[in-house]
Amino acid sequence: MNQFCDLNGVDDLRCIDTTGMFTALDGLPAQCAEACWDLVKNIELPEIEAISNIVVTGLGGSAIGGDLLRVYAADKIEVPIIVNRDYVLPKFVGPDTLVFAVSYSGNTEETLSAYAEARARGASIIAITTGGKLGELAKKDGIPVVGVPFGVSPRAATGFLFIPTLRVLSRLGLLPEVTDEITEMIDYIRKLSRVLGPEAESRENQAKQIAATLFNKIPVIWGSAGTTEVVAQRWKGQINENAKAPAYWNVLPELNHNEIVGLQFPAEILKQLHVIILRDDRDHPRVQKRIEITKEVIQKSVGGFTEVWASGEGVLSRLFSLIYTGDFASVYLAALYGVDPGPVKVIDFLKQELQAR
Ligand code: F6R
Repeated sequence: MNQFCDLNGVDDLRCIDTTGMFTALDGLPAQCAEACWDLVKNIELPEIEAISNIVVTGLGGSAIGGDLLRVYAADKIEVPIIVNRDYVLPKFVGPDTLVFAVSYSGNTEETLSAYAEARARGASIIAITTGGKLGELAKKDGIPVVGVPFGVSPRAATGFLFIPTLRVLSRLGLLPEVTDEITEMIDYIRKLSRVLGPEAESRENQAKQIAATLFNKIPVIWGSAGTTEVVAQRWKGQINENAKAPAYWNVLPELNHNEIVGLQFPAEILKQLHVIILRDDRDHPRVQKRIEITKEVIQKSVGGFTEVWASGEGVLSRLFSLIYTGDFASVYLAALYGVDPGPVKVIDFLKQELQAR
């Protein structure tokens, strides 16, 4: 298959993008600022005496913020954070649980079911949504709602869906002050948008270079446990939903104990894989050594690999530097395949069919 367009033709890029994915990406820094300062301003938080655990329940683009929270907060919070992508909640959920019920549309049936379970178990709940049935139910039940503005795809609303969880936990005293770090991240990705955005030419635009490398390949994204793992999952989802292409993800060190063995057969098909290794020079030193050895192991079996390094100061900046690069790369990959990155007709079809049955 030939590339549909030249990634340096800004008009060509924008014309395949009918739902404004590029505009939403350009707007991510502003979205994060709005999420940090405006969205949680007037929220009345529940009276919380003793919280033993936190559950973020949601799916797809509404769940990834939960993983970002889990990874970000792991070394800062005293209680476990679980991300639940299911109709049902784990048995431990009860009156000492804080549940974030997150659904951009407010109509995702798994999240509505988990919300009902959380209510029945007496958990403290905060809904994060643009409205829909979740918004209606929460209003009726007197549950605080972080009202997310409508108008972008859920996966392009990561700032709106993730940042409020940080702010709420900080206001509840469960996380330390977060606004300085959020502000630093916003300033940093604002700078990055100039080098990753459509106006930046391929020779200096890492996201365009990655898209060109992944074109006509099967992307395999590897992150490291506790840091870039969430980014690997995000890249996979973004490539699926934006570029309509398969992608697979895994995590070190775990993949050193299984996946790495499975890269021998079928040899011709393995040549179609391109591995993206997400790196952070703050990752565990032994994991970094593992990556060096792993590169030697895969060199001859897969089609190729590319290392993409986190940058920026704070943990949030570093996570978002990689997320932003992957988000842009997935939309450029859509452009190379000549597919509109916005619509996700298969997800819509599934949701409609489920409603009818
Ligand atoms: C669509 C997308 C999906 C949705 C998921 C859940 O852009 O990213 O992964 O996020 O189908 O729907 P919501 O977010 O409305 O609960």
